[in-house]
Amino acid sequence: MRIILVGPPASGKGTQAALLCEQLDVPKISTGDMLRAAKAAGTPLGKEAERYMSAGKLVPDEVVIGLVGERLEGEDAKKGFILDGFPRTVPQADALGALLESKGAPLDSVLQIDVPRELLVERATLRRTDKRTGQIYHLKYSPPPPDAELEHRADDREETVLKRLDEYDAMTAALLPYYEQAGLLERVDGVGKPQEVTARIAAALRLDA
Ligand code: AP5
Repeated sequence: MRIILVGPPASGKGTQAALLCEQLDVPKISTGDMLRAAKAAGTPLGKEAERYMSAGKLVPDEVVIGLVGERLEGEDAKKGFILDGFPRTVPQADALGALLESKGAPLDSVLQIDVPRELLVERATLRRTDKRTGQIYHLKYSPPPPDAELEHRADDREETVLKRLDEYDAMTAALLPYYEQAGLLERVDGVGKPQEVTARIAAALRLDA
């Protein structure tokens, strides 16, 4: 299956992508994770991306399109993928569409995870990630085990989260009518326990329980 998860910052895309890719046995491809890895490795791309990420801005299209294009050449992506956080602009969606068309491998579904803005700030600011495993936790809703090595993302400070939310409204919300017109968009309520959201996604994708 070839699926896109779209939704505002901290709506639960990463959490749901991790569960879904296990269930569907396809890789999770997260541009946010790829950019953070490049930043941690100190590569020129990572240094360039960091300037935008720390300001709550989107990294330029050509940078992320190049990253995803390369990643989709991986052997494991031939059986399908869950894209988490890409595309985020109409030019990114056009580039992905052209790439998939050239491979004869169209998208199956674009899932929009809906969460009201007032819940998103709390979800982001209290998020913690285990740096050894990448597992996503939340100090209130999904507490980490005592031995986790927790990381607090630099862009999860409240003032940056608010900028990221504005950037989503300005740049990424336009993807919703784009994919709706293509007949691919499914809306999923992202409020509730993660397992409840997973069940709604499974129903939207018509997966067996
Ligand atoms: P990215 O890492 O993609 O960030 P994002 O889209 O802002 O999404 P998040 O990772 O913040 O949240 P999420 O929706 O995955 O939620 P999660 O599951 O973690 O991008 C970061 C930056 O990189 C961007 O700002 C940009 O600069 C750059 N970038 C990335 N891709 C780009 C692109 N394509 N183009 C240009 N620039 C790009 O959940 C959040 C928290 O809520 C967690 O603590 C979790 O435990 C908790 N939670 C999850 N589900 C629930 C639930 N149902 N109930 C209660 N809590 C929940």
